[in-house]
Amino acid sequence: MGQSVKVAVIGAGVAGLYTARELQQEGHQVVVFERNHRLGGVWLYDPRTESDPIGIDPTREIIHSSLYLNMRTNLPRQVMGFIDYPFPRRKTGDPRTFPVHQEVLWFLNKFAEDFELAELIRFNTEVVRVEQVDGKKDEWVVESKTRGSDTLDQEVFQAVVVCVGHCTEPRLAEVPGIEKWPGYQIHSHNYRVPEPFRGQVVVMIGLGPSSIDISRDIAKVAKEVHIVTRNPDVRFVKLENHENIWLHYMVERVHEDCLVVFKDGSSVYADVIFYCTGYKYHYPFLETNGIVTVGDNCAGPLYKHIFPPALAPWLSFIGIPQKGIAFHTIELQSKWVACVLSGKVLLPDEKEMMTDVERYYQKMVEHGLPKHYTHDLHPNEADYYNWLREQIGMPPYEEWRKQIFAECFTNAIANYDKYRDEWNDSYWDGIIKVASVP
Ligand SMILES: Cc1cc2nc3c(=O)[nH]c(=O)nc-3n(C[C@H](O)[C@H](O)[C@H](O)COP(=O)(O)OP(=O)(O)OC[C@H]3O[C@@H](n4cnc5c(N)ncnc54)[C@H](O)[C@@H]3O)c2cc1C
Ligand SMILES: *[C@@H]1O[C@H](CO)[C@@H](O)[C@H](O)[C@H]1NC(C)=O
Repeated sequence: MGQSVKVAVIGAGVAGLYTARELQQEGHQVVVFERNHRLGGVWLYDPRTESDPIGIDPTREIIHSSLYLNMRTNLPRQVMGFIDYPFPRRKTGDPRTFPVHQEVLWFLNKFAEDFELAELIRFNTEVVRVEQVDGKKDEWVVESKTRGSDTLDQEVFQAVVVCVGHCTEPRLAEVPGIEKWPGYQIHSHNYRVPEPFRGQVVVMIGLGPSSIDISRDIAKVAKEVHIVTRNPDVRFVKLENHENIWLHYMVERVHEDCLVVFKDGSSVYADVIFYCTGYKYHYPFLETNGIVTVGDNCAGPLYKHIFPPALAPWLSFIGIPQKGIAFHTIELQSKWVACVLSGKVLLPDEKEMMTDVERYYQKMVEHGLPKHYTHDLHPNEADYYNWLREQIGMPPYEEWRKQIFAECFTNAIANYDKYRDEWNDSYWDGIIKVASVP
């Protein structure tokens, strides 16, 4: 048994729940702070939306989840669970391989129940400040506010693990002329149901997973949906198999009479500009004297996207990477953090970790990658997973997992409208069985 540490976990989504389980199994004392009234994070659908639909007003009440009612996962069941606690194959209920979001929430509640995690969670309790006590490395004050109470509570922990997610604080795109454009603007964070867009002409900015998904949802009732991308290969074109969805290349300018002019020479009078432009990392409670900073879709410096070298291992972040298998990333990261805190696994010294981060940034520059790609795992997710697996003594990343991810990644773009329902389970069952024979 290694050393036992008193740890604060902030957030009770996938990351907070799995981390709490790992820390507890490793013999640590765990308190989970959750500002919502229930667990689940992103997967806890909330029909409410924020008062400012594009999320600029700093005084708005934050609604955490960005889920929309008709959302289905973009990864199959086979990779929506953990290695030691897989997502169930359905004996009853939804027969589909790509579940609806309600089933993921059900899965997380079951996980919490099986490991008695609810007892560790302080619900309705928002962390408002996390700061080292007198610069002591393993002393952190966690200040929190419980809903309905005016007082702030303080408690000191040896370590803090930040599990607050990164799909809540909207990131917007700059649209020339937007100050005078009179239509309605919304960010995907505040999208729930298609009905308000009935009969409307919607210009959707961004061509990522949320715009691909939401455009189809809205097109059922909207008059027209125009998706705008920065991809220079795209020109004005109607989507195959869709009567009312078009693609465009970049917005040139928007005008006072509602006209939206695109850089591909086309234009349209629009009712709505809909930002599917992603989110920002956002840690308003964290006070580190400038050691950890958040920039253009990037937080750091973080060794392996987890530990700030100067504060390791007492401060860590779980779930920061993007473009990977979220549940898998979280599983491996939190196992590593639990073992590092108990002293079973050693970190390199601060200088070495910092050099590693700098080398990583340097490589990005050499490959011409902008800063906002810092936490994208793809196409190197297998290397990252294998590195973590080696630290915690797990066998290498399974080939089938890699193939499923690659398949979804490609199909979500090339065969979006069908891949979820054309998924061949028998084929994948064959591969997974073969792969798991020792
Ligand atoms: C629209 C959408 C679709 C997605 N689809 C998929 C998918 O199909 N498959 C997939 O694997 N992943 C998907 N994801 C990724 C998803 O984010 C991860 O699966 C996972 O939910 C991340 O969990 P998390 O715990 O890191 O963050 P979250 O789920 O965001 O949980 C963070 C928790 O922290 C709490 N919190 C935040 N700040 C504070 C504070 N100051 N004090 C106390 N508590 C706080 C929040 O209330 C929340 O409960 C999707 C994400 C979005 C937004
Ligand atoms: C699904 O996969 C199985 C096993 O590989 C194969 O026999 C079958 O023909 C496939 N079905 C379809 C519709 O492609």
